Amino acid sequence: MIILGIESSCDDTSVALLDCSEQGCVVLSEKTASQIDVHKKYGGVVPEIAGRMHAEKIIPLIEEILKDQPKPDAIAVTAGPGLITGLIVGVEAARTLSMVWNIPLIATNHLQGHVYSVELTPGQKIEYPAIALVVSGGHTEIVQINEPGSYKVLGATKDDAAGECFDKVAKLLDIPYPGGPQISKLAMNGKTDAINLPRPMIKENNFEFSFSGLKTAALYWLRDHKLAAVNPTGIGKIFSWLPSRLGISGDPITREDFCASFEQSIVDVLAYKTLKAVEKIKPKTLVLAGGVSANKKLRECLQKNITDNFPDTKFLCPELKYCMDNGAMIAVAGYYQAQKNNYTKWEDIKADPNWHLNF
Ligand code: KG4
Ligand code: ZN
Repeated sequence: MIILGIESSCDDTSVALLDCSEQGCVVLSEKTASQIDVHKKYGGVVPEIAGRMHAEKIIPLIEEILKDQPKPDAIAVTAGPGLITGLIVGVEAARTLSMVWNIPLIATNHLQGHVYSVELTPGQKIEYPAIALVVSGGHTEIVQINEPGSYKVLGATKDDAAGECFDKVAKLLDIPYPGGPQISKLAMNGKTDAINLPRPMIKENNFEFSFSGLKTAALYWLRDHKLAAVNPTGIGKIFSWLPSRLGISGDPITREDFCASFEQSIVDVLAYKTLKAVEKIKPKTLVLAGGVSANKKLRECLQKNITDNFPDTKFLCPELKYCMDNGAMIAVAGYYQAQKNNYTKWEDIKADPNWHLNF
């Protein structure tokens, strides 16, 4: 079955054409237009700009990936959750093509797409029951999946998502959006135990998260230790970093140490709660997916713990290029929906920015 996948829920316009069968899905062609360079100037995604940029790119991208390729049998499109300005562009494009080409339409949940991104690696297949930690700029959820299409959210963040926390703290360090990858790069040369930052909700007996307190703790620590780029500007800013860099501030903790300690607290909380869920549900597969699944420390921590403590569970995470939002993962999720005849008429499809993964 040839499936066209369309993703436009945030700041990536991404389309892909996949050939899916019981043996798995093969990407025939794919293209992504990232908007990061534009949103960077504003320190985060500006919904109106995102919507306009998706509208400019979506049809040319689809035309490009369909060149010299077979005609799709179905279209899978992200219908939510995400930014309404972006979702409606993808949904309207998919609706129109479904009507014109007379092929079925599949309304796909963005988080469900992230879960199936792991199956884009040849040979990787989710076995059920599965647990997924979906962790991105907009979401942090532990999900139980008993079979494709059946999702139960065991716990989610009460406030900021983990990726959002990475990005906001990066901003305090003057690192441009999205700062998660840069923080983890700096963290590689720092000491994880240099600062004792909180591990929010780690002791609570549930699968919920909260990252806004960690962000505030980071803000105060940076302010009190003059490691934040919050106050000084220009040359003052350069010199404010110098004392700690030279180790003459009486506070030998570096930016790298701060990043390592901060990253460790997020990884500790995410891993601890996820492994608790694994202990309780005893799944056949643990999936780690979403933008933050690109984080090396998080991947390694879960992999090691699963290997050492849960030998009956296999651990799957996506290839780095499929951690971020992409159309290919939407097509894979759409394939499983198509297997269950879970189609939506083009007249009925609606973008739902708050579509919960509980169905
Ligand atoms: O899934 P995604 O592309 O978009 C959303 O659905 O939100 O995730 C983007 C998020 C950003 O917050 C970004 O900082 C974070 O993923 N991210 C990382 C890393 N790479 C991307 N966070 C921590 N470490 C990384 N290596
Ligand atoms: Zn995403």
